[in-house]
Amino acid sequence: MIEIKDLSKAFGEKCIFDGVSVDIKEGELFSVIGPSGIGKSTFIKCLIRLLKPDSGSILVDGQDIAVTNNEFTLAKVRRSFGYLFQEGALFDSLTVMENVAFGLKYLTDVPKADYPRIVKEKLALVGLKDVEQLKPSELSVGMKKRVSLARSIAAEPKYMLYDEPTTGLDPVTTGMVKELITDMRDKLGITSVVVTHDLSLALEISSRVAMLYDGKFAEVAEPAKFRQSENPAVKEFMEISHLSRK
Ligand SMILES: Nc1ncnc2c1ncn2[C@@H]1O[C@H](COP(=O)(O)OP(=O)(O)O)[C@@H](O)[C@H]1O
Ligand SMILES: [Mg+2]
Repeated sequence: MIEIKDLSKAFGEKCIFDGVSVDIKEGELFSVIGPSGIGKSTFIKCLIRLLKPDSGSILVDGQDIAVTNNEFTLAKVRRSFGYLFQEGALFDSLTVMENVAFGLKYLTDVPKADYPRIVKEKLALVGLKDVEQLKPSELSVGMKKRVSLARSIAAEPKYMLYDEPTTGLDPVTTGMVKELITDMRDKLGITSVVVTHDLSLALEISSRVAMLYDGKFAEVAEPAKFRQSENPAVKEFMEISHLSRK
């Protein structure tokens, strides 16, 4: 479980979080939405401490990683996270096998001899087979997403973080990615945090949706309740997203 309390973060004069508090429960698919530039990527980066919050606490399974400088704690907690970058960020010069095995090499002490079996297994989970020897340039956009996800789950993270997982994708690939995200939760029980400006995606797949606005969560609710929110910021975001309040 991830317990966030009074999280604050500013870049210079610009306040991004001004006392954000929320609990993300085990097995949950939690989405953070909000317009571009509001701080969604910053939120994810604070969760894995790629960025350091100014104050507050982030308890990951009881360990506070918000502002600690204890590298041992940070390394340990980071290992429980998988992270799907927006760009996928596969290594072009490495094969699919090498790309997926990358996380095993750095995050686990799995013997090298087991890599091929584990990589095959993870690829199967994302619906791929017989692609181990291909290079990223030989894959479609959808396949690259699948390989990136296979790499993120290779070390069997407890939590998955997705930053704009469908941005820039065609509708078919978007549908596929939605299914993959819910699959990871359903098949592996992975607790997931999705940040996206795509409200319809968030409403469709999430157990709860949180709207980031003005340094705080303006609303945190189940999709059905979120649609009915009377919060002005939520109403406006629903409107600009062309979603009705049904
Ligand atoms: N490392 C940084 N240094 C200074 N400003 C930053 C940094 N990262 C992000 N910002 C600024 O913080 C704001 C929020 O950024 P970000 O979290 O990327 O927004 P989002 O993901 O919601 O589009 C933006 O105005 C951005 O320019
Ligand atoms: Mg972003």
